[in-house]
Amino acid sequence: MKKILVTGGAGYIGSHTVVELVEAGYEPIIIDNFSNTEERSLQGIAAILGREVTCHRIDCTDVAALRKVFEQETGIAGVIHFAAYKAVGESVAEPLKYYHNNVGSLVALLQVMEEFKVNKLVFSSSCTVYGIPAELPVTEQTPVQKANSPYGNTKKICEEILTDLATSGSDIHTIALRYFNPIGAHPSAKIGELPLGVPNNLVPFITQTAAGIREQLTIFGNDYDTQDGTCIRDYVHVVDLAKAHVVAIDRLLTDKAENIEFFNVGTGTGNTVLEAVQAFERATGEKLNYKIGPRRPGDVPKIYADVTKATEELGFKTTSTLEEAMKSAWDWQMHLQNTSEQV
Ligand SMILES: NC(=O)c1ccc[n+]([C@@H]2O[C@H](COP(=O)([O-])OP(=O)(O)OC[C@H]3O[C@@H](n4cnc5c(N)ncnc54)[C@H](O)[C@@H]3O)[C@@H](O)[C@H]2O)c1
Repeated sequence: MKKILVTGGAGYIGSHTVVELVEAGYEPIIIDNFSNTEERSLQGIAAILGREVTCHRIDCTDVAALRKVFEQETGIAGVIHFAAYKAVGESVAEPLKYYHNNVGSLVALLQVMEEFKVNKLVFSSSCTVYGIPAELPVTEQTPVQKANSPYGNTKKICEEILTDLATSGSDIHTIALRYFNPIGAHPSAKIGELPLGVPNNLVPFITQTAAGIREQLTIFGNDYDTQDGTCIRDYVHVVDLAKAHVVAIDRLLTDKAENIEFFNVGTGTGNTVLEAVQAFERATGEKLNYKIGPRRPGDVPKIYADVTKATEELGFKTTSTLEEAMKSAWDWQMHLQNTSEQV
């Protein structure tokens, strides 16, 4: 079984990818410093797979610690690099924390990959690199724009670092996946998004509000130029997104990839925030307490992906509906509540 190193593999998207990698016949090795996740994520992975997955508790900005993992885990075939901080608001308040962790971890990882001649990388990028796009849907040719947060800028800078490396003639081949809005949880409800503190993302806020942990959801603005005035996003089920990483690794390992390639990973469909709320209500039968608030500075009014390139070249396809994703997020919320006193 080919070993794939998964940094941030105990996190939200990482944990789902670890499960899909095992199911596709790979041997994932996790690296995580548990700055934004908990032990129960590993327990959830083990419960789904019926066995534990190796996890190294180190920080990815630490070159010496990374080196030790590469020495210990001989024969790593490729790396998927999820480890990063991702809270947009926090990145505005603490930019250096974000540049150090998100850019620093990529540079450290690339140095060690070069040293150990591990040449295949899948990188977690984001549709945030497109800023407020002039045209929709967004293709990979849509111009990248000035980032509107330090977090977004770290993704843009990381893409530039990877492009410079490809141009330099390095042996490292990279696929950068530009995620749209990942939501939902594994159908087993044993892993999911684990927001520590007040959630930054819509769906955990929805599920926590429905569960009575938060009093009310605020939808930021209903006067945008969209069908119901609320912002449009492309909500992609996290299991579908996880599978995109498996096909990206397949492509890198069969040497079909260029030095660097970028792929949008979304559903190709835009839904408003209000439609997402209604999908949650339909899927779960729960009535959500929400209000409309003022616009939030920095929000992109509408964005959704053109996924033709990922479909044709990676063989990526989505299988889950918005309702299914919402139901899975709700089942995960219920699981968290039922098990929280045991953790
Ligand atoms: N969730 C989204 O909406 C979204 C959208 C676009 C891109 N992304 C990107 O996808 C990746 C994964 O996101 P996620 O939603 O799973 O986030 P997450 O916070 O759940 O997972 C990231 C994991 O990385 C770990 N980590 C962070 N810094 C580390 C370091 N220096 N060393 C070791 N471990 C470290 C955290 O503990 C966490 O388990 C990130 O790079 C994120 O920027 C996420």
